[in-house]
Amino acid sequence: MIAIPQLCLVIPVLNEVGNIAPLVASLDVALAGESWEVIFVDDDSRDGTREAIAAVAADDPRVRMIHRIGRRGLSSAFIEGAQASFAPFVAAMDGDLQHDETVLPAMLAAVRDEGFDLAIGSRYVAGGGIGDWDATRASMSSLATWLAGIVLRTKVSDPMSGFFMLRRPVFERAVRRLSAMGFKILLDIIASLPEAPRIKELPFQFRTRVSGESKLDAGVLRDYLLLILDKLVGHIVPVRFLLFAGVGTLGIAAHLVVLNAGLRLFGMGFSGAQALATAVAVVGNYTLNNTFTFRERRLKGRRFVTGLLTFSLISSVGAVMNVNVSSVLFGDAHSTWYYAGFLGAVMSLVWNYAVSSAVTWRR
Ligand code: GDD
Ligand code: MN
Repeated sequence: MIAIPQLCLVIPVLNEVGNIAPLVASLDVALAGESWEVIFVDDDSRDGTREAIAAVAADDPRVRMIHRIGRRGLSSAFIEGAQASFAPFVAAMDGDLQHDETVLPAMLAAVRDEGFDLAIGSRYVAGGGIGDWDATRASMSSLATWLAGIVLRTKVSDPMSGFFMLRRPVFERAVRRLSAMGFKILLDIIASLPEAPRIKELPFQFRTRVSGESKLDAGVLRDYLLLILDKLVGHIVPVRFLLFAGVGTLGIAAHLVVLNAGLRLFGMGFSGAQALATAVAVVGNYTLNNTFTFRERRLKGRRFVTGLLTFSLISSVGAVMNVNVSSVLFGDAHSTWYYAGFLGAVMSLVWNYAVSSAVTWRR
């Protein structure tokens, strides 16, 4: 009979072929005498990462893997890895050797023996450090940490850390409320817990990456802001809808600017200028929604064109509904013009959002 390991390390990996074997070897040394397993969560790497994991697993049954296709994101990777294990203690760690595995025994002692719910590897307590990050990345990180303070009710020096360990019941208490967006699973977990967890912060030096490259891009920043928003207002209104509404508001502004230019600058007739303004607004809204609102379902190439067609069609139906509803309200129901106009606009916004997310940007 094989017993359940005490500790499960969940390691999200994307194109880390050169780091797998050295990482497992370093875990073997750092956690000597402990019972542990590691679950690599691979988002369809193209560099042979899975083969490298399989090679290590061939003579080490503690090594497991989840292969996800068409998925991205550290947060969801951690959640799925944690859920695939029965271990009473779960840790998150990067797969690029930047996290210091020699801190793991102290983390385990904290959550297993010292009564803490959560142990965090921190770069911002005495003895910790951010390694070779440049000034831009360092200041981005402190700005993001400050922003995190808004949604956290407890003081954490490094809520952006991807290196932490917790007791499984703590994870279970948070899991149904997680936003699961983007990179910042620790922040998500702490903000999702019904009561503040007992936290121990352990310093570590963020190491320099030797093999492979960082996956941080502009999308990570967008995902982070969405996570903060979701934690603030997500229980009232979905953040994606807020983005969609924000883009729609920009569209109205663009419409008025183009209409004005058509009429005054280019001497167009009203219906011509209005048609041009509408086209600009629809194409602009579509492009912005495709880049920001539905970033992870972004349409490219030929599908970008067919997407524009369905989006235009859906928006036209929305516009017709808008006019009908507000006319009924204004005419038969004797509403004020602004009430009727506003309700009509909100209705078409909800319609456009619901239908375009199901059709244009369907999963
Ligand atoms: N499965 C999966 N899917 N893994 C991913 C993905 C993804 O979409 N994106 C990145 N990874 C893996 C990488 O292969 C690596 O093992 C780990 O996640 C961290 O990715 P990096 O791209 O190396 O992140 P970083 O070094 O810039 O960011 C670090 O700092 C953040 C704090 O500012 C990480 O430690 C983060 O966890 C941490 O939050
Ligand atoms: Mn890294």
